[in-house]
Amino acid sequence: MIKQIHEGFTVDLRLDEEWISRSLATDIRTGITKTKKSLPPKWFYDELGSELFDKITQLNEYYPTEAEREILNIQAAKIAEISEADHLIELGSGSSDKTRSILDAFASSNQLDSFTAFDVSEEILLSSAKQIKQRYPDVNVRAIVGDFDHHLDAVPQTGKRLFIFLGGTIGNFEPEARQRFLSSLTSQLKTGDSLLLGTDLVKEIPRLELAYNDPDGVTAAFNKNILSVLNKNLGANFDIEKFDHVARFDTDREWIDIGLRSRSDQEIYIERLNLMVNFLENEIMRTEISAKFRPEGIEQELTAAGLTIQNFWTDSANDFAVTLSTLA
Ligand code: SAH
Ligand code: TRP
Repeated sequence: MIKQIHEGFTVDLRLDEEWISRSLATDIRTGITKTKKSLPPKWFYDELGSELFDKITQLNEYYPTEAEREILNIQAAKIAEISEADHLIELGSGSSDKTRSILDAFASSNQLDSFTAFDVSEEILLSSAKQIKQRYPDVNVRAIVGDFDHHLDAVPQTGKRLFIFLGGTIGNFEPEARQRFLSSLTSQLKTGDSLLLGTDLVKEIPRLELAYNDPDGVTAAFNKNILSVLNKNLGANFDIEKFDHVARFDTDREWIDIGLRSRSDQEIYIERLNLMVNFLENEIMRTEISAKFRPEGIEQELTAAGLTIQNFWTDSANDFAVTLSTLA
């Protein structure tokens, strides 16, 4: 479903109301009826969720955004030179804020033919595509409203492509799903296409945990917003006040485990699923994991997916890594 809209960029809508309500219903039923309840993270990002995430990226405690920005600002020209790409495709693009330094570098070496932003969150995607089109009027700008677990085939097939996947979002997949995602992404690539991947690194636990437990409660509000999404879209009756935000580092799995802890024994009814769900006092429902990586693990996973590492960069504090790899 492609429509041209007046701001001069194309929009490809892969997520219509019906798809969203069907897959939301299936995802939530699957996760919430498990012995260890979990919710899939893609449903965080309704309009309010995307705004709250943007606030997270501006928190002092949430170091990944500025660390990744530092790397991208310094390496942008190099990324353009090494990848030789002319079509840029950003997955989970959100506001595409950090991506601008990359776009500037490609544009100034006159090699930017098209930029495609791909996200589940329609409002933030369209507003950022509009801004990018205004800033680069000669570039073909395209927005794909889609789910990268299902709609990777929607991306442009022409040119020499650089896929960009930032923010450590790759860490939000469970390890097996992560490898499946990397393999399905690689199967989309043609020889010479590249991937620019941002990953958060293992570090001291207090800093890791503080990044997901800011004292102002922005992260807590973001996390709890998923319950509002369920109330709104599935007719659930969650009382947000009856859950607490929890985020702690699991030292064995090396990921931040983020969840909502029930303050009491309670029963929730989800009308659209015709489902009653019981929560015990202190029971934690997982809402997200955020894996933290080691350099050797990143290399191993990209190599296992069939990619060849070109460059590996970290910020000056060694907090975050960006890896450029290619399908040889
Ligand atoms: N790239 C930005 C945003 C990261 S937040 C940054 O680095 O700051 C993760 C983004 O991925 C959100 O914009 C969210 O809407 C999007 N996202 C999450 N799951 C997705 C999925 N399954 N398909 C497409 N986009 C997804
Ligand atoms: N991709 C982000 C990360 O892993 C997502 C995120 C940041 C997040 N803070 C959060 C997800 C809090 C859930 C709750 O860092």
